[in-house]
Amino acid sequence: VRILKLIGLGAGHPDHITVQAIKALATVDVVFMTDKGAETAELQQTRRNVCAEYMKRKPYRIVEIADPPRERRPPDYRATVDAWHEQRTEAYEAALGRHLADGECGAFLIWGDPSLYDSAMRIVDRVLARGVVHFEYEIIPGISSVQALCARHRIPLNEIGAAVHVTTGRRLGEEPLPDGANVLVMLDGECTFRKLPAAQFDIYWGAYLGMPDETLICGPLAQVGPRIEATRAEARRNKGWIMDTYLLRRRT
Ligand SMILES: C[S@@+](CC[C@H](N)C(=O)[O-])C[C@H]1O[C@@H](n2cnc3c(N)ncnc32)[C@H](O)[C@@H]1O
Repeated sequence: VRILKLIGLGAGHPDHITVQAIKALATVDVVFMTDKGAETAELQQTRRNVCAEYMKRKPYRIVEIADPPRERRPPDYRATVDAWHEQRTEAYEAALGRHLADGECGAFLIWGDPSLYDSAMRIVDRVLARGVVHFEYEIIPGISSVQALCARHRIPLNEIGAAVHVTTGRRLGEEPLPDGANVLVMLDGECTFRKLPAAQFDIYWGAYLGMPDETLICGPLAQVGPRIEATRAEARRNKGWIMDTYLLRRRT
């Protein structure tokens, strides 16, 4: 049999890696990396550092899978994502078939936790469903950017007994706000919090969480919103890319 592990690495801090992930890495023969271009070169380097640190026990190979190009603002989001997933499925299938031998263990190193806004699990399920390559697979959870954000701001994610709404920047801009008091926003390239009634919210914002450029800002949205926008724009200009996430909490 072939074995495939989707290993959560944590959201950026090298110490966020779990003991389970370290043990899993020690069993890996082939690391599959998807090449997302220069924008995430730093994240790829983080993955390579993890391999160098935790995979010393035996030789391993790194196989790059070229990511199909993706339309960023498609008119039909779902259909475009579906087509993109299909192309990725074919690429993963080919790479697994070609580079993972019987008896070997392969791994995808997943940023944060594999269950949160990451397509690897869906792609791997699609590969299995096609029935061309066969393998067993296992998910190793990781510290997500959500947990990293709350820890750095020293806040609980939920208020006592309350719900939390996790969403994307895109949806925050398109849908009415849920009744709950807490909204966690990821994948927001546009500072969509600008569209909300600022007086009603506090915001807890974090960029490059756990990494050397980590930046944290929190406070009443009306006060700190413009500062977050300016800080974000500048960081993005300087580094060429940004990863940030934030919690909006309704003021009482
Ligand atoms: C494709 S999703 C992957 C999420 C990841 N699986 C996780 O568990 O955090 C990428 C989004 O996660 C958030 N993110 C991931 N790592 C982050 C970090 N170190 N600092 C701030 N936000 C981060 C950002 O909202 C980014 O747009």
